Amino acid sequence: MAGLNDATRGRLLFGGDYNPEQWTPEIWREDIRLMKEAGVNLATVGVFSWATLEPRPGARNFGWLDEVLDLLHDARIGVALATPTASPPPWLGARHPETLPQDENGATVWYGARNQFCASSPLYREYAQRITTDLARRYGHHPALRVWHINNEYGTHCWCDESARHFRRWLRERYQDLDALNDAWGTAFWSQRYDSWEELIPPRRAQYLNNPAQLLDFRRFTSDALLECFTAERDIVAAHSPSGIPVTTNFMPLFSGLDGWRWAAEEDVVSVDIYPDPAVGRENPAGPAHGALVADLTRSQARGPWMLMEQAASAVNFRGVNKPKGEGLMRLWSLQAVARGADSLCFFQWRASRQGSEKFHSAMLPHAGETSRAFRRIRDLGAELDRLAGVTGTGVSAEIAILHDWPAWWASNQPGRPSAELDYPAILAAWHHALWQQNLTADLAHPEADLSGYKMVVIPQLYLLSDAALDGLAAYVRGGGHIVCGFFTGVADPDDRIREGGTDARLRAVLGLATIEEWWPLAAGETVALDDGTTGSLWSEDLTPAGARAEVSYAAGELSGRPALTRHTYGEGTARYVSTLPEPAALRALLARAAEAAGAAPTLPGAPEGVEAVRRGGLLFLLNHTREPITVPLHVPHSDLLTGHPHAADVRLERYGVAVLSPTPTQGSRTCSTQGEHAR
Ligand code: GAL
Repeated sequence: MAGLNDATRGRLLFGGDYNPEQWTPEIWREDIRLMKEAGVNLATVGVFSWATLEPRPGARNFGWLDEVLDLLHDARIGVALATPTASPPPWLGARHPETLPQDENGATVWYGARNQFCASSPLYREYAQRITTDLARRYGHHPALRVWHINNEYGTHCWCDESARHFRRWLRERYQDLDALNDAWGTAFWSQRYDSWEELIPPRRAQYLNNPAQLLDFRRFTSDALLECFTAERDIVAAHSPSGIPVTTNFMPLFSGLDGWRWAAEEDVVSVDIYPDPAVGRENPAGPAHGALVADLTRSQARGPWMLMEQAASAVNFRGVNKPKGEGLMRLWSLQAVARGADSLCFFQWRASRQGSEKFHSAMLPHAGETSRAFRRIRDLGAELDRLAGVTGTGVSAEIAILHDWPAWWASNQPGRPSAELDYPAILAAWHHALWQQNLTADLAHPEADLSGYKMVVIPQLYLLSDAALDGLAAYVRGGGHIVCGFFTGVADPDDRIREGGTDARLRAVLGLATIEEWWPLAAGETVALDDGTTGSLWSEDLTPAGARAEVSYAAGELSGRPALTRHTYGEGTARYVSTLPEPAALRALLARAAEAAGAAPTLPGAPEGVEAVRRGGLLFLLNHTREPITVPLHVPHSDLLTGHPHAADVRLERYGVAVLSPTPTQGSRTCSTQGEHAR
């Protein structure tokens, strides 16, 4: 199987989406000249080219693409060639409306934008696979080809009749017999029993709350239906290419629509698009924290280096107010991705469009042209990346795992729960943020993963856990592992059936809790006082310990005097439970205490606030996320790969500055280790 090393060939990939069909052949030549000037070595071509490649059913128009790929190759620029199947041409929807998706209300989602396809439509699949086959036959052996890029940001949903038929087939395979389905869905409730497979439909708009297990299965089904589209195209392109060409599809960041663990297992290379909001700065570091979380997740999905397939050179166009990236920010966030495992830095897009819905989205080459400051920044970054060539293929050190899973997310964010304020990705982000802020590097892990290589495992909130996951967690702690477990975890089984006793008995045994009797969610903005002087928000619970020690208790309200945060020794290990969402400083302190007890150390103890420190491939990346210069004390002398300067006792980072430090004086730019560093 091909991997990312085949694509990078020892140099970070640098480039972006390139849409030559929007431009003339004269401009293509200018593009090539400027790409070379900027150090671009990868262009993602063809993402939305279907209507140009197949202007009418069955027609083929490849001449322009032949020329573009040859031009790129002559300039020694590699190509990530995309199958164009994310955006079918209008003729497909006009002639075959059954290929268009329908929403929960049966309303058609029309052409005129993009992504208007029903993943279950046999006709959509047939046309998509035909154009994919012809593309792969023609370019599978093109010397410029480095990566196959399938579709773009899969994530559509469809509730149409064809999807209903497909859903039924999927359900038959999952349950085999209807009694098993009725049991799993709990259809004795509200007279929902199904008497024949034909009665089953996607959870369309109904009079009141849809069946939760049906909603959950529909999420699983939708992810699987899209995955079938991906694997079919993947197999076609792989069959027509040499073995060293990896296949990927670009994920949306922390996206709920696809089961990311299942999807990543089907890819040669995992890639993602990251668009943090540059409007948030030092006071609210949600931008870089988001980037760090998505990077950590993608690295964990990839089990190693990954591709940043898209980011913005400056402003996007999809927020209410779209601020550009201030001087230094594009470089800082790019190098953050490299620090956290990326082997490619690509952008949407190379040249800013003059027409269409994204004409106000920034690009590597903006409307202002090659003399702009924005293009200068791109050129500077391209030049700098040569010095980091040695990091490709190397791993990131992480001693902590954060458990994360999609079905648990899907199930806990449904209506009819104890609180509509519960927002799974926000809770995950809050916990990750608390670790990130103190440079405790973490991987994300599937709840059933082998956790034995991690010193500490944290579970921000996993409402739904399988038996295997619960057994694995118990074994991990029994064998000496340390866990910190957040509220509303282990409540349901994979059918969304509440576990006996309200929270799984195995988990309660690990946590040393007799019962978690009632959930006491808090209203938006409401807080509850805790007896250590801090507060909790979002949630609280009525716990009764059986062996666990209350470290912090509620100090007000109905639960006053009852335990809020507990600690329990189980086997050789320790299990902490957190029944509310502690205020950020308290969550940080709690995780710091737990990490210290577990022997998991921050990357650079004593690093000043605002400085991110990550180790990758034997190098220490220091990133200043503030607008002020910061001096970072070093424990041993280092030299900076980016500047070549030695640093004996400390290093000064300018506003949004970055240092990539090697503990021994560098002889050249390619001295860092190429060994993987996974804790696993
Ligand atoms: C991505 C997409 C690109 C472009 C970009 C704009 O989600 O893949 O095609 O639309 O967003 O930020």
